Amino acid sequence: MTRKTTMNITIEPLGPNARRPLAEKPAFGKTFTNRMFTQRWTEERGWHDAKIGPYQPLALDPATAVLHYAQEIFEGTKAYRRPDGHINLFRPWENVARFNRSADRMAMQKVDPEAHLEAIVELVRLEHEWVPHGEGESLYIRPVMIATDVSLGVHASKSYLHYIIASPAGPYFSTGFKPVSVFVSDEYVRAVRGGTGAAKTGGNYAASLRESERVKHLGYHQVLWLDAIERKYVEEVGAMNIAFVYGGNHIVTPELSGSILEGVTRDSVLKLAPDLGYAASEARLAIDDVLRDIESGEITEVFGMGTAAVIAPVDKMGYRGKDYFVRNAPGPVAIHLFNHLTNIQYGRIPDPYGWTHKIEIGVDGR
Ligand code: COI
Repeated sequence: MTRKTTMNITIEPLGPNARRPLAEKPAFGKTFTNRMFTQRWTEERGWHDAKIGPYQPLALDPATAVLHYAQEIFEGTKAYRRPDGHINLFRPWENVARFNRSADRMAMQKVDPEAHLEAIVELVRLEHEWVPHGEGESLYIRPVMIATDVSLGVHASKSYLHYIIASPAGPYFSTGFKPVSVFVSDEYVRAVRGGTGAAKTGGNYAASLRESERVKHLGYHQVLWLDAIERKYVEEVGAMNIAFVYGGNHIVTPELSGSILEGVTRDSVLKLAPDLGYAASEARLAIDDVLRDIESGEITEVFGMGTAAVIAPVDKMGYRGKDYFVRNAPGPVAIHLFNHLTNIQYGRIPDPYGWTHKIEIGVDGR
């Protein structure tokens, strides 16, 4: 039966083709739940037709603006199974706020943060059986917005589709907490200050693919990106923020330069670190200094930080024909942060920061 939520989202019934969650968790981002959220924006009607209905392909005219000029944004957040059987979202408000910052940068329409959050909560509630119970598993939630004008004119679209899909996922790296090797690119850049690097828009990821493929052929897992102007300062690693541990107890991450994505995991690490006994700071980090400090052992650990992988230890950095080996990978700080952060995310320990948003399952018969 169709019903409406407080924020006027229509919940449609599922057809006869609804699937049961698989017993085996598939690789990251490969299967999706039965339902999706959608709403549309037009100048005349603003946001309208908000609904959660069956997951289905989008029918797009071949001239739809997003397919030509990439006016698109997305987000990534996760739902975690708590030991009491209920479900946690982790800092979903930060993702909504960043979604709207990305929308602003890409000249798109902002969403109502309350309505967006209700859409996520309702979707997770309806699909709660798809939130896995296994270690390191979660339901990855992917909000997206695309420009839907059917027009080849280069201008901001006057209509948008906002949708949210969800995908049960095992740990991001199939081999668990396995270190990754990185190649420092001084040829290609991911983003430039004044560009779109701080927005979560598909074009940033598209621009990274060629170099990512090249470094894989060279035997490295990910690209370490330098700033676009001087090709000197460390920015990000793969699709993650990066951090260095100095002297075993000082975590330093590149300061937000305008071309670095403001990661929720990055921010959580910065806030959590002092309470776990580490100093934490943001700085401009020149690649030459970083490599010298890795070689001398002053830098004891390197790791990536992102929603998908949480913490990804780095064991080797290749730059201009030479490999630099990080002393500990995974090291004690990365392990400590990973355990503490995931314990909060899964609701295994108290959350003094107010980061988790609990979704009660089985309340109101749902
Ligand atoms: C993240 O881990 O935060 C990401 O953005 C990775 C995602 C693009 C798969």
